[in-house]
Amino acid sequence: MTHRIAIIGAGHVGATAAYALMLRALVREIVLIDANQELAEAEAADLADADALARPARIWAGDYADAASAGIAVLTAGAATHGDESRLSVASRSAAIVEQCVASLMDNGFDGILLVAANPVDLMAQVALRASGLPPERVIGTGTLLDSARLRQTLAERFDVAPSAVEGFVLGEHGDSEVAVFSTIRVGGLPLDTFAAAEPPLDRAAIATEVREAGYRIATGKGYTSFGIATAIVRICEAVLRDERSVLPVSTMPADDSGFGGTYMSLPCLVGAGGIERQVLPELTDEERDALKRSSKALEDAMEGMKR
Ligand code: 2OP
Repeated sequence: MTHRIAIIGAGHVGATAAYALMLRALVREIVLIDANQELAEAEAADLADADALARPARIWAGDYADAASAGIAVLTAGAATHGDESRLSVASRSAAIVEQCVASLMDNGFDGILLVAANPVDLMAQVALRASGLPPERVIGTGTLLDSARLRQTLAERFDVAPSAVEGFVLGEHGDSEVAVFSTIRVGGLPLDTFAAAEPPLDRAAIATEVREAGYRIATGKGYTSFGIATAIVRICEAVLRDERSVLPVSTMPADDSGFGGTYMSLPCLVGAGGIERQVLPELTDEERDALKRSSKALEDAMEGMKR
């Protein structure tokens, strides 16, 4: 188990992820790296104050040489979206930042797991894969883990149960073409239709839209999102550090026999110490499979558009 995590990008997401990692006491060392050294130092100092009241960890503003021995490097640096700007609309700007950060990371000998959160995360994870030369299983995008949490939270509120009682996935793009795969939803282990048999009919389309638009709603109110995405980052770090072999919906390169294109998208993956151990594609309805193919195509087209 590694004792160090490097967080590249000390903005809202990176700093919140560092804070959550510290509170979870997952690692002994957290290094914050940012082009804005003053920001990184201020966030590290603020976190160190908090750490004095939490469980001991060493938190500092460092550089890519400090990231070399990290077991996990979390890449949050990217172009920010504003208001109702789609995540895909900032792909080219984010790609330039991601390529620069990954080049610096690899030049310093990093050989761990690269967890990408920068948006549009599916494309940025693929850019990071190409720029790093790391094997695909060790380049993971946070993907629709956050969207799946939003769907589970929405259904938990609707049925007045704990979110932990709701299983299931949003898959595909972390963005406008994402797919709420209702056939994977279980409540208390029961298929959704069985559990909800006595409930008023569920407007699945409305729920899927509410989940898809959650990021925009929050960003409109506070200018960005941070707590949800930071906790998704920590959840994936936890699965890796503890070698959990949990199945999480994260962004990865679909297996050749999956029937989905050659662009990163979220699929259920077994996540452990080696990163993504295998993909666990659920049985899909024809409608769900078609929607996921559309999502994959949207990402492929966006990747093509970014190359021009
Ligand atoms: C979100 O949906 C940041 O894209 C992320 O909150």
